[in-house]
Amino acid sequence: MAEEPEVERNTEVTMDEIVALAKRRGFVFPSSEIYGGLGSTYDYGHYGVLLKNNVKNEWWRSMLTERDDIVALDSAILQHPKVWEASGHLDGFTDPLVQCLGKCKRRWREDHLREAIAEDGGDPKGEIHCPECGGELSPPRNFNLMFQTHMGPVVEDGNAVYLRPETAQGIFINFKNVLNFARKKPPFGIAQIGKSFRNEITPGNFIFRTREFEQMEMEFFVPPADAGEWYEKWIGIRRDWYLNLGIRESFLMVRPHEDDELSHYSSRTSDIEYLFPIGWSELEGIADRGDFDLTQHQNHSGEKLEYFDQQSGERYLPHVIEPAAGADRAALAFLVDAYDTEEVEGRERTVLKLHPRLAPVKAAVLPLFNKEGMPEQAQAINKVLRAAGIQTEYDSGGSIGKRYRRQDEIGTPWGITVDFDTKDDGMVTLRDRDSLEQNRVPIEGLPELLAGKLIEPWKSPKTG
Ligand code: GLY
Repeated sequence: MAEEPEVERNTEVTMDEIVALAKRRGFVFPSSEIYGGLGSTYDYGHYGVLLKNNVKNEWWRSMLTERDDIVALDSAILQHPKVWEASGHLDGFTDPLVQCLGKCKRRWREDHLREAIAEDGGDPKGEIHCPECGGELSPPRNFNLMFQTHMGPVVEDGNAVYLRPETAQGIFINFKNVLNFARKKPPFGIAQIGKSFRNEITPGNFIFRTREFEQMEMEFFVPPADAGEWYEKWIGIRRDWYLNLGIRESFLMVRPHEDDELSHYSSRTSDIEYLFPIGWSELEGIADRGDFDLTQHQNHSGEKLEYFDQQSGERYLPHVIEPAAGADRAALAFLVDAYDTEEVEGRERTVLKLHPRLAPVKAAVLPLFNKEGMPEQAQAINKVLRAAGIQTEYDSGGSIGKRYRRQDEIGTPWGITVDFDTKDDGMVTLRDRDSLEQNRVPIEGLPELLAGKLIEPWKSPKTG
């Protein structure tokens, strides 16, 4: 019998361990939990908000601060229904839905079932059955992924609107506004972060695929002849972004799409994939959307969306290269990549070896004991660090070992401990989360010391 091909997975941590840590330490909770939960929706707690904000801030930094050819936009979630007619989402944004006609009546995505069969070495074009109960499956039906609602007090034909399924269209319909005000010419980009909504048939795997999610998208408008060059450039730039934030190279890959997986607007797409516990899965897609969207909106709205190059006298519709990332997925990948367990002094510790800039809390300020002025000194240090814009946490509860372990689990890179000597020598102990080195450093200059560490190049201390 032929051996079944093994699906490659990240075996360092399971998704269950990530979910458990996220809940235990207040990163992410199942939504509406007191009512029994609402499938595949999640609420971010304090540390989850800080982590995801850091991911988004790093994205903004790379788009807006480190280069000056991209401008920002924040468009509305609700847009004119014609936007979705023009973009092709009303007709083409569908998944093939099949339903079990046997016992369990579960719904599946036909393409996912066929992919799973192919991964197991079977014939993906052959007959398929319900993976749950083996029942017969209905013929596939195209199911539109957009959430529909109604504008105004009455539900009637003609007032249907949609929650946006991608932030990108808000950028295309503002192309002219931005051209008029941003004083940019191709090549230039418009970047946006915001919520999008897709009524997925089979969401799942924690915050990997949810019906409500946050996108980080940038549309880069280029002269048509330069599209190929920019497509390659953006694949490289975006791959480096993950690596520079500590994702290990062997856990990241770029996978060009086969022709039959391309979205309706794309002539070529490459995915940046991460090796999750569920296998290689998409973090971000870099697509060459050509002039598809601007042409569609020009035709449907009647507004001219061409760029006029005054120097050459040329008038043209720019082509678009789009790096589209998921903020939730990126946060999940950073969590998975950072998760580690190791033995320290005969005890197991769980630690998130996050890039310090992504870590929710940068420094824990800890009085060794709750006496002899130590809490007051620690509070004073905490206040100075916070005033310097450094996210800290003052923690005086429990033994020092217990407090370090708690901070390790939320990925705090530095511990600052005030002890008996602090009041005499003005020094504290600085503990490094990863090396566990402890050094005495002066209180004076602590904000500058930490700020300097935050901009140093960083590499994951995990091997693999
Ligand atoms: N705008 C591309 C995507 O939503 O995947």
